[in-house]
Amino acid sequence: MELKRGEFISLVGPSGCGKTTFLNAVAGFVPISDGTLQLDGRNIPGPGPDRAMVFQQPNLLPWRTVLANVTYGLELSTNMPKSEQRDRAHELLDLVGLGDVAHQYPVNLSGGMQSRVNLARALAVEPELLLLDEPFAAIDAQTREVLQVELLRVCAARDVTALFVTHDIAEAAFLADRVCVFGPRPGKIVKEIEVPWERPRTQDLRRSREFLEKCDEIADVLYSSKSAAGSSAQEEH
Ligand SMILES: Nc1ncnc2c1ncn2[C@@H]1O[C@H](COP(=O)(O)OP(=O)(O)OP(=O)(O)O)[C@@H](O)[C@H]1O
Ligand SMILES: [Mg+2]
Repeated sequence: MELKRGEFISLVGPSGCGKTTFLNAVAGFVPISDGTLQLDGRNIPGPGPDRAMVFQQPNLLPWRTVLANVTYGLELSTNMPKSEQRDRAHELLDLVGLGDVAHQYPVNLSGGMQSRVNLARALAVEPELLLLDEPFAAIDAQTREVLQVELLRVCAARDVTALFVTHDIAEAAFLADRVCVFGPRPGKIVKEIEVPWERPRTQDLRRSREFLEKCDEIADVLYSSKSAAGSSAQEEH
């Protein structure tokens, strides 16, 4: 798989096929036994500030304010002066629409708001590559659609490249320039599907016939790879 700078790739595939494992490998959290992983032509030696991971659970630190949650990564990984850290965190919180709750504690935020903090926190270290593992899976459908539009806006504003894992086909299609469909474990890319629409994308796109056809195309590849696995598993059995 090859990602171009600024590109948004969605990854879909059956449960247990290795999507999270793949993101963890790209993040440098788990070693790979075969193949190569490179960023700008250099092998990825381990975790680094050029990549940031956004997990499904925001896992914000409850004893820190929203602002202090966003500066946390900077405190750990840089020598940036405190005032500069705070300026950057304020800027990011404004970007994700949470400028007014910077001094609140996580317990006072809704799930969608925590998700936005999670995103701001990942962006604080200014990663080149953002790795997102089902970040909106626990969010209600309506809020999720809003967050998707916001994510695209934030990625464009910061010129980040994104690798986004989801089980939601419409979400994969709405966000991506390209959807990579993984087959069953051990996961391999079965097909890469181009998603042609210009950005910024709007909510209207979701209701269009072309969009629904694109979702069908992705679903066909995904479900046919699953059923192929089911029959080969039965044969083995
Ligand atoms: N390429 C691989 N090499 C070794 N182990 C793998 C590989 N892919 C998957 N696994 C194993 O399969 C398990 C499930 O993989 P993983 O959690 O990455 O799946 P997933 O696609 O993220 O599933 P879900 O959609 O349910 O989150 C892992 O715990 C890991 O042990
Ligand atoms: Mg997973």
